[in-house]
Amino acid sequence: MTNIYEYNEANMEKAAQTIKNGGLVAFPTDTVYGLGADVYNPAAVAGIFSAKGRPTFDPLISHIAEIDFLPEYAVTDSRVMDLARHFWPGPLTFVLKRKDRNHALDMVCSGLPNIAVRMPDHPIALELIKKSGTPIAAPSANKFKSISPTTAHHVYNSLGDKVDMILDGGRCAVGVETTIIDLTTKEIVILRAGGLSRETLEAYTGEKIALSNGNPDKPSAPGQLLKHYAPSHKLRINVTTPQEGEFYIGFGDTPNAQLNLSPRGDLREAAANLFAYLRFADQQSNFSGIAIAPVPENDLGLAINDRIRRASYAE
Ligand code: TXA
Ligand code: MG
Repeated sequence: MTNIYEYNEANMEKAAQTIKNGGLVAFPTDTVYGLGADVYNPAAVAGIFSAKGRPTFDPLISHIAEIDFLPEYAVTDSRVMDLARHFWPGPLTFVLKRKDRNHALDMVCSGLPNIAVRMPDHPIALELIKKSGTPIAAPSANKFKSISPTTAHHVYNSLGDKVDMILDGGRCAVGVETTIIDLTTKEIVILRAGGLSRETLEAYTGEKIALSNGNPDKPSAPGQLLKHYAPSHKLRINVTTPQEGEFYIGFGDTPNAQLNLSPRGDLREAAANLFAYLRFADQQSNFSGIAIAPVPENDLGLAINDRIRRASYAE
């Protein structure tokens, strides 16, 4: 008996009640599964940090279900609203100035003057937020620094009964986390590469958009930590010739691969498969390491390379 619940009306009611009562509900989004709690309940939000083993100085993203709610929740202007109308719901998170010093939100924001907000493109996530009647704070539903979950079973394997309910919505379509952009400055900066490509953002805004290189010792996003998303096996990247004993994850034409992120070289397909394949490879006890073939740096390749570079970082 697990705490995984299939999608139906009764379970959605139960999940919304759990959020309202200050519990933790893991739920599917377009990108990865999130570990959710009521943003206005600091004790519930503290429960997210403790279930993940995540330091409380790493702020969380608030998930909302209606664009019109955004100006009530954070400081907005026409640029922000225009981007929201164009890209939401979708794999894009905004970092905005906080509206007022509502101290109930200090825990979600780790005391920072800014708040991260997004609207996920997933019917179960949107329904849960609406039924709960509150924005939902949610990081990826996995142990801190480990591989992000793209199925309900990944969540269960990582967090087990530390979460009250896991809503099953099948596999996440995008497979890597949202792109996070800082909209508190005149120029838009990407704080974390993710499911919405830099090219798509640049094409829409007509601006060149910089990618923050972050300060790994003082990350404004934990995704900026040098070691993150890590399997327990040793991981090597940009490998064309795997070594004896390595589980080889290919991309494109890689005939000797055990698994291939996308045999036809499609970066979106590769992003969707990435975390599940890393998990699978990590579970193979008859291999001593994992090697990944080169993945181009364009489009979703930016996010893929960001994740595997951090996952391969040797402390
Ligand atoms: O796709 C996603 O974004 C998933 C799903 C569940 O929505 N969530 C996710 O959350 O990846 P998490 O906690 O693993 O990463 C959220 C990132 C963190 O790197 C955090 O530091 C950054 O958002 N963040 C949150 N609030 C911030 C703020 N006020 N300023 C700068 N970065 C912030
Ligand atoms: Mg995460």
